[in-house]
Amino acid sequence: MKIIAFGGSNSQNSINKKLATYAAHLFENAEVEVLDLNDYEMPLFSVDKEIEIGQHELAKAFLSKIAEADLVIVSLAENNSNYSVAFKNVFDWCSRINAKVFQEKPLFLLTTSDGKRGGANVMEIARKVFPRHGAKIKATFSLPSFYLNFDISSGKISNPELNEQLKAIVQFLAKSFISRN
Ligand SMILES: Cc1cc2nc3c(=O)[nH]c(=O)nc-3n(C[C@H](O)[C@H](O)[C@H](O)COP(=O)(O)O)c2cc1C
Repeated sequence: MKIIAFGGSNSQNSINKKLATYAAHLFENAEVEVLDLNDYEMPLFSVDKEIEIGQHELAKAFLSKIAEADLVIVSLAENNSNYSVAFKNVFDWCSRINAKVFQEKPLFLLTTSDGKRGGANVMEIARKVFPRHGAKIKATFSLPSFYLNFDISSGKISNPELNEQLKAIVQFLAKSFISRN
């Protein structure tokens, strides 16, 4: 099983990238590739820019990565109750090539933030909107108060209860893959 994971953020030390990376590596016997949105930095999308330069090669490259996946794991950053600009920009460029950005792939949707709500607003938006863009959302998980519940040095969730919750979801997803194949 190939997993493509990424954080929906361009922060160098993105907590969402850390969470997506941790979740992806909980899957046993999976090939994991973690993407960094900084490798897909494109000009701010506009229809004028699109006329000027056409489809962006990095958007094509991002879509190719999604195409390789058996499971996509994304953890979205919440900025002003919405997607980060970095994620939205990649998403907009990609959507002009293929509106089904997620290409009917199974998706594990995560969010985290340093606040108590753990990115609940962006989770709600993505749950509603991603399926229109070809995401088959199989499970969701929000990690609240990241810095209280995640140990950066080990790269793992430190809150045992939340860790068990995530592991149970991973087991459920892994089982559904085994029974399908
Ligand atoms: C411009 C901006 C807006 C933010 N808005 C929210 C918000 O609406 N809700 C929230 O929980 N956190 C908000 N935050 C805090 C982020 O969740 C926090 O910075 C987190 O680290 C972002 O994830 P990242 O490290 O993966 O980029 C905001 C941060 C910035 C810089």
